Amino acid sequence: MHEKDASVGKRVDLANATAPGKVILFGEHAVVYGRPAIAVPVTIVQATAAVAAAAAGSGCTISAPDVGVRIRLPSAPDNPLALAVRLALAAAGVDAEPDWNISVSSTIPIAGGMGSGAAVSAVLARAVLASAPTFRGCPDAETVNRIVYAVERIHHATPSGIDNTVVVYEQPVWFVRGRPPEIFDIAKPFHLVIADTGIASPTGQVVADVRAARQKDAARYDAIFDAIGAIAERAKRIIASGKLETLGFLMRENQRLLRQLEVSAPSLERLIESAEDAGAAGAKLSGGGRGGNLIAVVKREKIGLVREALLAEGAARAIVTQVGG
Ligand code: MEV
Repeated sequence: MHEKDASVGKRVDLANATAPGKVILFGEHAVVYGRPAIAVPVTIVQATAAVAAAAAGSGCTISAPDVGVRIRLPSAPDNPLALAVRLALAAAGVDAEPDWNISVSSTIPIAGGMGSGAAVSAVLARAVLASAPTFRGCPDAETVNRIVYAVERIHHATPSGIDNTVVVYEQPVWFVRGRPPEIFDIAKPFHLVIADTGIASPTGQVVADVRAARQKDAARYDAIFDAIGAIAERAKRIIASGKLETLGFLMRENQRLLRQLEVSAPSLERLIESAEDAGAAGAKLSGGGRGGNLIAVVKREKIGLVREALLAEGAARAIVTQVGG
């Protein structure tokens, strides 16, 4: 992780780090209320961070040129990037502001349900921990996960913890809030087409809306959460056994329940329909919903058709990823 370069005037990175995006296969929203969910990393999109030594006395600057952000660490008490850095410095036992330039970038769509915020916090935490002279060795996942979860709480008050867990552990996870995450094997790989509606939808707002709606009708909402949890249980069994015939059906069922939670949107529905019409076995929104990304489970021979159909229907981007294998 450490790179050394003795040449004068050249930027010397103390450390750099990467983290993947993620998609939730089954169980979003219900997972906030203690039901199980399944999420997998998506390595085709990534966040990266680099920490470079700066001139003595210049302090710590964080820049994210892609989104036009440049902040000085002490002057940004509420900024999530600055919080990730501050928490990592504290975990490494560094009290004084270091003279560092930290840069961060990401190809994960922002507010798209693919874990962009968690991945950015993860790379900042890792790169800062690895750069701290007081910290020996590779940052452990548990410390990084704790930091990322704390930052996630800025974005929304009640994160389940699934986003930070899958992004930090970079493995498929079976997640139940408050329990240690279970990393599980995918018996037989399968393909997803991930399509972006192009509509940014901050998760925190959607989670808050679901919470408000549940307060008015807890019995109905809890029944929907139970049904989503039961789908996640069935999905786990079939993914672990490799008998994937009903995976698409379970996605369609999960989406039907997400509609009942009122977290879908016309843009998502149009794209889901076009993916299924083009031969996807099933499709659903992934993450907070109301925009962001959807996932479609697709047999290898249908990938091209489904991708084309999604782009023709107006998807801002359609990427293909293999789960497992
Ligand atoms: C967001 O990726 C998933 C939600 O279930 C929120 C959470 O789990 O914190 C909508």
